[in-house]
Amino acid sequence: MATRKPDRPGRDSQPGRSQRRAGGRPASNRPAPARPAPPRPAPARADSWDDDEDWGIEPGERDSLTDVPGGVRLQKVLAAAGIGSRRHCEELIGAGRVEVDGETVRRFGARVDPARQVIRVDGKRIPASGDLVYLALNKPVGVISAMSDDRGRRTIADLLPDPTQRLFHVGRLDYETEGLILLTNDGELAHRLAHPRYGVLKTYLAEVTGPVPKDLGRKLTTGVQLDDGVVVADRFKVVDRAGPRVLVEVTVHEGRKHVVRRMFAELGHPVSRLVRTQVGPVSLGSLRPAATRRLTAAEVGNLYAAVGM
Ligand code: URA
Repeated sequence: MATRKPDRPGRDSQPGRSQRRAGGRPASNRPAPARPAPPRPAPARADSWDDDEDWGIEPGERDSLTDVPGGVRLQKVLAAAGIGSRRHCEELIGAGRVEVDGETVRRFGARVDPARQVIRVDGKRIPASGDLVYLALNKPVGVISAMSDDRGRRTIADLLPDPTQRLFHVGRLDYETEGLILLTNDGELAHRLAHPRYGVLKTYLAEVTGPVPKDLGRKLTTGVQLDDGVVVADRFKVVDRAGPRVLVEVTVHEGRKHVVRRMFAELGHPVSRLVRTQVGPVSLGSLRPAATRRLTAAEVGNLYAAVGM
């Protein structure tokens, strides 16, 4: 199947939508003016492109996706989701890299319902619905991982840009723990990210009492017996050994309460500072304490992929 980018007809060279029927013939009874046969009209400037059109589709290339009446043009949905400019999104469509409900769509004019249909670019689902919000928050110490508190303590809701937005926080961090918390109103994604079944990895930087023995990593990754069962670290490394405190990085795939603090305490290395730096494919990066940022389309796509959505 051809993957070239179709030429763009100029608006002036095209009849308006109201003048045309399916199949491209004029709706009036007057003799149809001869339509330009290929080669197609000369490319026009991007901003004159009537993007309701699907020029460039060769016979046999048309997909069987049914346009959603009143739906939004696919390239517009992609651009709004942050995939790139409208032009770039058209190139992705033309190259066969975009799927709607499992079907590759090469028409620029395809109309979709971003709230109901699953749209993927290169196999990764994109956050298509404009109503969905995906945030990363750097929770500081002294904030509780809840949206409200009957004891009047500071909550993560106090740190959100729009406190009226109903968001779910994905898991919790202790009052004294800092770092990355994801928030979203995408209920299914939030549920899966927090569900033990999906084993989403969480990485922490911990300042622990040293010195740490050489076999600490082996013990953590073999399994540490806690009151409520064994916890097994997925990864462990020493980051910095300066002074009596040692900075370590540990990755676990579960969210039991105080689990990281408890596993180090059990092995004789109490944690004095704990920062979550990564949840699945999303990193805290340089987000400053108490700040939020929107996740990129790529990050959301990677989160979906991490939990099989
Ligand atoms: N483990 C902890 O001990 N505390 C947290 O907040 C998260 C994981």
